[in-house]
Amino acid sequence: MQNIISIKHLFKTFNNMPILKDINLDIAQGERIIITGPSGSGKSTLLRCLNLLETPTEGDIYFMGQNILDPHCDIHKVRQKMCMVFQQFNLFLNFSVIDNITLAPIKLLAKDPTQARYEARGLLERFGLLNKAEYYPAQLSGGQKQRVAILRALAMSPKVMLFDEPTSALDPFMKNEVQNLINVLGHENMTMIIITHDIDFAKNIATRIFSIENHQLIPVQ
Ligand SMILES: Nc1ncnc2c1ncn2[C@@H]1O[C@H](COP(=O)(O)OP(=O)(O)OP(=O)(O)O)[C@@H](O)[C@H]1O
Ligand SMILES: [Mg+2]
Repeated sequence: MQNIISIKHLFKTFNNMPILKDINLDIAQGERIIITGPSGSGKSTLLRCLNLLETPTEGDIYFMGQNILDPHCDIHKVRQKMCMVFQQFNLFLNFSVIDNITLAPIKLLAKDPTQARYEARGLLERFGLLNKAEYYPAQLSGGQKQRVAILRALAMSPKVMLFDEPTSALDPFMKNEVQNLINVLGHENMTMIIITHDIDFAKNIATRIFSIENHQLIPVQ
């Protein structure tokens, strides 16, 4: 089967300082890749390279068979299919929960607004957040904000989800709520790359675990 993501000889430097050196990784559909490693080792940089929030210095990244570094590649389309979830949620603070979730499907996928709202309510109901549909982010707990951020990404029907320390801003209870949601996605065969320091969570969900050490991706047993 074709790999959904294929990273080939990826290098990244910042101001001539090497951060990532010759990273190679093939990821099959449905895999759940965990990336861990010391602070400053380049975990976020690697994830950000995958949807060109950072531009690699050298190398190629294939997503669904297409080289995303090809100048003809429409990176906006790629980002719609490979959605990033951040540590700090990044919800639109002046939009309600339901508007946060429906904005991109309506604007970018030209989805009918009534249909988008219907689907968003379905997602919220499934994950126990329907009663928050009209709330604003400031009225939510951290765990609820992060779950809404994940549902916002899911509303785009992504092929891959990228998580950069999705629970590190949360207390243990809220962390569990978010990890449970990510576990459900795992059971549904969502391809995911997750940066986390939570080893129990990682071992439970991962198909493979890697650490970034000395600028390189090292498999963890
Ligand atoms: N835009 C940038 N310009 C210059 N240097 C950067 C930039 N982004 C990251 N770096 C540097 O690259 C290195 C890797 O940063 P990165 O954020 O990828 O680390 P990380 O492994 O995610 O760390 P943490 O666990 O603290 O989140 C760090 O030394 C950082 O200072
Ligand atoms: Mg980071």
